[in-house]
Amino acid sequence: MTHTIPATLIPGDGIGPEIVDATLAALDALQAPFDWDRQAAGLAGVVAGGDPLPAATLDSIRRTRLALKGPLETPSGGGYRSSNVRLREEFQLYANLRPALTIVPGGRYDKIDLVVVRENLEGLYIGHEHYIPIDGDPHAVAMATGVNTRQGSRRLLEFAFNNAVATGRKKVTIVHKANIMKALTGIFLETGLDLYEKKYKGRFELDTVIIDACAMKLVLNPWQFDMLVTTNLFGDILSDLVAGLVGGLGMAPGANIGVDAAIFEAVHGSAPDIAGKGIANPIALLLAAAMMLDHCRMHDKATRLRTAIDETLNIDKVRTGDLGGSANTAAFTKALVSRIANG
Ligand code: NAI
Repeated sequence: MTHTIPATLIPGDGIGPEIVDATLAALDALQAPFDWDRQAAGLAGVVAGGDPLPAATLDSIRRTRLALKGPLETPSGGGYRSSNVRLREEFQLYANLRPALTIVPGGRYDKIDLVVVRENLEGLYIGHEHYIPIDGDPHAVAMATGVNTRQGSRRLLEFAFNNAVATGRKKVTIVHKANIMKALTGIFLETGLDLYEKKYKGRFELDTVIIDACAMKLVLNPWQFDMLVTTNLFGDILSDLVAGLVGGLGMAPGANIGVDAAIFEAVHGSAPDIAGKGIANPIALLLAAAMMLDHCRMHDKATRLRTAIDETLNIDKVRTGDLGGSANTAAFTKALVSRIANG
């Protein structure tokens, strides 16, 4: 009997179902033994049952502790709270791992191999926000509270440092703004420096940089970095920046790793501007699926998937529009599946 791995599948919104279909086709070709439990969230959850994070979806992840997720739409300003943030909180997915690796050579930046490790639960994303009405203007003043804890910073930094050691990273850079937000981001910096001194000294080089200088340095000379580890908001912004260094959001996968579960997804959102047109680049979610295979110790299948993506892009030259090609999602997927089948 074949051993199967129960996993939750959330197709998501916008281009989500299109890129999820492409990813399932690749995983089927690899004979990945996932036993999918398909569930709704985001706008799809609202449309289906009035809830952006239905109880059935939470129950499913509680059971499987493993999910592959398409992007979920979140209204800006008002409306419901981000289902992504709620999923991270519910399953204590404290570490967000976002690698950026050049697969298509000859772009503006070549040979990039960087990873951003972002704290996923604390900081300015905890949702403690409110307005103060003055003189009939309900939004006269906006306030937000950020919270970083010693324990939260420490477990994320420990995750990052352990990952750096396990994957042979030479240098880790702590990104902060402790010159201005002395307490909020100072605690993260202080905890990282202390942890390194006590447990990791000599196993890799540790550096620190202020977020604004980091953004400039990443654009001028990204090769000076290896792993960036930072707080929630800075990590969110920097991971899009590093995605831009390797060809855009279509190439950037992410893993949300926690105490109670692991959820794999693309860094990008639901791309409403191209949804339904069949032209989305599915590679970010495919690379997330490769991370999921690694997480489940199916390293051979993960490598076969990454190799097939590389060959489809660089030998067959089949690329979607965001990479300067003319293939649609279906044509790319067909070429990828035949690479996997013949690999
Ligand atoms: P977005 O990432 O959806 O799109 C930004 C730009 O990149 C658009 O021009 C889009 O067409 C393009 N793009 C993104 N993915 C692509 C792909 N795979 N292939 C080709 N082009 C691609 O960001 P946006 O428009 O700011 O957000 C749209 C919605 O997605 C919002 O509701 C937002 O809250 C949500 N979102 C969800 C995320 C998640 O579920 N993890 C992450 C980021 C945003």
